[in-house]
Amino acid sequence: MTQSAIYSRVVGTGSYLPARRVTNQQLADELATRGIETSDEWIVERTGIKARHFAAPDQTTSDMAVEAAKRALEMANLSADQIDLIMVATSTPDFVFPSTACLVQSKLGVTNGCAAFDIQAVCSGFAYAMATADNFIRSGAYRNVLVIGAETFSRILDFNDRTTCVLFGDGAGAVVLQASSETGILSSALHADGSYSNILCVPGNVNAGAVQGEAFLYMDGQAVFKLAVKVLEKVAHEALEKAGLEASAIDWLIPHQANLRIMTSTARKLDAVEKMVVTVDQHGNTSAASIPLALDVAVRDGRIQKGQTVMIEGVGGGFTWGAVLFRM
Ligand code: ACO
Repeated sequence: MTQSAIYSRVVGTGSYLPARRVTNQQLADELATRGIETSDEWIVERTGIKARHFAAPDQTTSDMAVEAAKRALEMANLSADQIDLIMVATSTPDFVFPSTACLVQSKLGVTNGCAAFDIQAVCSGFAYAMATADNFIRSGAYRNVLVIGAETFSRILDFNDRTTCVLFGDGAGAVVLQASSETGILSSALHADGSYSNILCVPGNVNAGAVQGEAFLYMDGQAVFKLAVKVLEKVAHEALEKAGLEASAIDWLIPHQANLRIMTSTARKLDAVEKMVVTVDQHGNTSAASIPLALDVAVRDGRIQKGQTVMIEGVGGGFTWGAVLFRM
């Protein structure tokens, strides 16, 4: 008996943004009280960001992840106990441990003992998580996998550093990937180069009950920019090649929403500027949450339709980068 191929299909998407929306002008006014100068004009021109959301003081990454997950499960028409694996891509977990994925499992009321773990690949985390989930599904190990990207970057921002604090926001996005005989994920490509770990990092750790080193995000903006543009183009072509497709086959391009200039530069090389989903203007850079947030926006507003080909691509600290090509 021949066994038909198993694909991983996106059968539900969901997202969540915390209630507090902060425009560039509001942020500039807040920073001015600390003697830090910035402007809406500077931020829009250099990054394309107009506003971001910040979590409430008592709101955690797992809280936001749960809200996004509930919406994705609802769209997938699945109950929490039908999940076989929960993965949370995050660099801003609630705790050192347990993992945010375990907290999400508990808060969702999943009692089936399903596997749960976090993925740490910073802004590439969601691409890494999707590719990992795909392997679990195609191997036959799991049927329904909840893949979440969730971040509370506001907690690691130094609001005295205008070069970084204007760039990031908080939020969560989720997808349910399900085993199917219908085409879903077509290919993926993941990479890392740890020799660039110092250009984007939070170089602190917990030691003897205190933070040792810096617990704030550090970034060499220009080095990140150059590297990001280079690797994103390369990895997009690698994923296309693996799937035997040309760039023209992409219906929707969902890059990590870091910065409109990086996104547009990559999209141009794929001749896909018109096909790009942009949420960075309203969400800022939400790291691992940015791709699933943008995906959910474009699914729910009707742009992304069943049968269309979507490419997601991420790049971030580590340095890490990756792309996943899938059919909706
Ligand atoms: N408001 C006003 N002025 C500012 C601000 C600000 N928020 N931040 C920096 N400046 C000033 C600098 O002090 C500098 O002033 P000077 O010329 O008097 O010294 C001037 O603006 C230019 O600074 P640069 O750092 O050279 O600005 P650049 O054009 O490189 O833009 C930016 C900075 C936007 C960070 C850019 O390097 C960039 O887009 N890098 C990519 C990094 C990125 O997107 N990171 C996201 C996280 S990484 C990821 O998700 C993959």
